[in-house]
Amino acid sequence: MPLVSMTAMLRKAVKEQYAVGQFNLNNLEFTQAILQTAQEEQAPVMLGLSEPYIPYMGGLNCIAAMVKELIDYYEVTVPVVLHLDHGTSFEVCVKAIHAGFTSVMIDASHYSLADNMALTRKVTEVAHALGVSVEAELGRIGGREDDTYVDEAEAMYAVTSECVMLVQSTGIDALAPALGSVHGNYKGTPRLGFERMSEIQKLTQLPLVLHGGSGLRDEDFQKAIARGTAKINVNTDNQAACTSVVRRILTEQPDIYDPRHYLGPAREAVKESVRAKIRLFGCAGKA
Ligand code: 13P
Repeated sequence: MPLVSMTAMLRKAVKEQYAVGQFNLNNLEFTQAILQTAQEEQAPVMLGLSEPYIPYMGGLNCIAAMVKELIDYYEVTVPVVLHLDHGTSFEVCVKAIHAGFTSVMIDASHYSLADNMALTRKVTEVAHALGVSVEAELGRIGGREDDTYVDEAEAMYAVTSECVMLVQSTGIDALAPALGSVHGNYKGTPRLGFERMSEIQKLTQLPLVLHGGSGLRDEDFQKAIARGTAKINVNTDNQAACTSVVRRILTEQPDIYDPRHYLGPAREAVKESVRAKIRLFGCAGKA
C-alpha cells in the first residue's frame, strides 16, 4: 500500500476511540521493527522522523526511499504515514514533502501566537495543495525535544482559546496541545490536563496528539483516548528497549563483533515495545 496522509486515519481513530502510534525512526532496524509489527498487528501506523535524524540517517530522500522499499520488501498492506516530527521551519517541511513524506508537523510553539499561526498557515497551504497532512503545536512540552531541553517546570500548558484560533485560522489536520506531557523520562508522577484536553477537543473538533508517550500509565492513555487523542508519540521506551538488549549482549559476550548479533535481538526488542503500545492504544486490527 502506498504511503497515506494522517487525515482520514486519525478521524477514524477519534470516531472509534483508539489512538494510532507514532513511533520515531532512529535507524534501519527501528524502521524494520515498526513496519513489521504494524503489519503483524494489522494496525495503521505513523513513522515519525525528527530533524536531528535527517543527517544521521542519510537525508530525507534516503529515508523516504528506505521506507518505501521496506514497505515493498515486507509486503506491508496496512496504512503507513511518513511524518516529519517537530519540523522547525517552512523550508524543512517543504523539503520533507518534496522527498515523499505524507505528513508534517510544523512546531512553531515557541513563537508568539500570531507568528505560530502565520507559519503554520503557510506550511498548511503548501502541504494541502499536495495532499499532505499537517500537525501543529501550542504550549510547550517539557523534557528533551530532539537536541534541546525544556525544563518540566518551564513547560507551558496550551490555552484553549488560542488552540481554537490556531485551528480556525490554519486548517491543520491534528493539534498537539501541550498539557503536561514530557519528552523522555518523567521526573515525578505525570499530571496531564485532561479537563482542558476535553475542552480543546470539543471546541476544535480535531484529532489531538499526545507527545511524550513513554512513561505514562495505562490509565493516562485510556483517559486521553476517551478525550479525543487519536495519535500518541513514542520514542524513549523503544530506544530503552533497544539499548538494554545491546548492553546486555555486549556485556555477556564481549567477543562478538558482527553487528547482526546484537542489532538483530535489539530489533526484536523494539518490535515487542511497539507491539505493547499498539495493543494498549487499541489500534491492533484497525487497519
Ligand atoms: P517520548 O520519547 O517521551 O516517548 O516522546 C516521543 C515524542 O513525543 C516524539 O515527538
